[in-house]
Amino acid sequence: MDLQTLKDKFTAKFGQGYSVYTSPGRINLIGEHTDYNGGFVFPGAIDKGIYAAIKINDLNKVRAHSIDYDGYCEFGLNEEDKPNEAWARYIFGVCREIQKRGYQVKGFDTVFFGNVPLGAGMSSSAALESTFAFALNDLLGLKIDKFELARIGQSTEHNYCGVKCGIMDQFASLFGKKGHLMRLNCATMEFEYFPFNPQGYKVVLLDTVVKHELASSAYNRRRESCENACAHIAAKHPEVKYLSDATMAMLNEVDVEIPAEDYMRAEYVIGEKQRVLDVCEALERGDYETVGDRMYGTHYGMSKLYEVSCEELDFLNDIAKQCGVTGSRVMGGGFGGCTINLVKEELYDSFIKTAKEKFNERFGHEPKVYDVVISDGARKL
Ligand code: GLA
Repeated sequence: MDLQTLKDKFTAKFGQGYSVYTSPGRINLIGEHTDYNGGFVFPGAIDKGIYAAIKINDLNKVRAHSIDYDGYCEFGLNEEDKPNEAWARYIFGVCREIQKRGYQVKGFDTVFFGNVPLGAGMSSSAALESTFAFALNDLLGLKIDKFELARIGQSTEHNYCGVKCGIMDQFASLFGKKGHLMRLNCATMEFEYFPFNPQGYKVVLLDTVVKHELASSAYNRRRESCENACAHIAAKHPEVKYLSDATMAMLNEVDVEIPAEDYMRAEYVIGEKQRVLDVCEALERGDYETVGDRMYGTHYGMSKLYEVSCEELDFLNDIAKQCGVTGSRVMGGGFGGCTINLVKEELYDSFIKTAKEKFNERFGHEPKVYDVVISDGARKL
């Protein structure tokens, strides 16, 4: 699929006079499941995203065509107009969330496609929300700032898609900058751009192409565990607002009060906070060995304490270790999707070859391989 085909399809369905917008998926170097715990994340936007041709109509309804799903959907802009199609709910949710904030949304026609792999942990859904939030803000001259656009996407997930996600994905999709990662403090929303060009290394994603069912309810349960642990700690330490503010000593004080499972989840989150800070320092020194070591640490925590990995992801992580890859871990929410790997250039080919062969032997198909290119965030084309 390319932009010309998108434009041709729009013209054939709705005529001329459209604008084209895009917003990308993301990677995250480290800092997983920390965003909704008021911790740090370290994402960057990628060169894969959602592309939408849009034009305001005067029908007071949305007419949307998804090229990838080969689907067409029409819906009004009131709460009771919620469409049945899952893909259309993201667009509907964005419209509703903008309206809930006191702005007027007009009907529009749109045709869109994406090249962010679905369910791979690269945030195709945030890319979709951000594309439409950014486009409507621009086309209707609403002047909503990008932080609020990110929250509009996040609330869409919460209120229309059933995932109580944090803010990382929408933030990264909107604020992304070519060649830079962003370290975001999710408690204060302060962030910094970090140039990211690890000389002599490559960053590559290996996609297991598995997506486990019920991932969103499992995700929401992780969040509840964290909130429970945090509430118990805060009862003793009122200065603790988010779980990421807590220390292991504080967690140990409430050990007997909370379920063992919640303890494990919180132990992971508290450990992850330190790993992100270590990675930031290490990056400034150009010390990629430490960066990689912490990535393995995150994988271990996500697999054994947070329990959001799976057999396929653990398998890829083991292969990375055996191949001498500097750092490797499950990326994003987990429950399938991909690993992110920091690998020395000279080891790249043999790593990819071995990973494909061994994974195929074990699971009957090869993982997909995506070289990471850090790119710009939401924009009009
Ligand atoms: C998903 C969510 C994010 C974040 C990650 C895990 O991508 O959408 O908010 O919680 O999982 O880090």
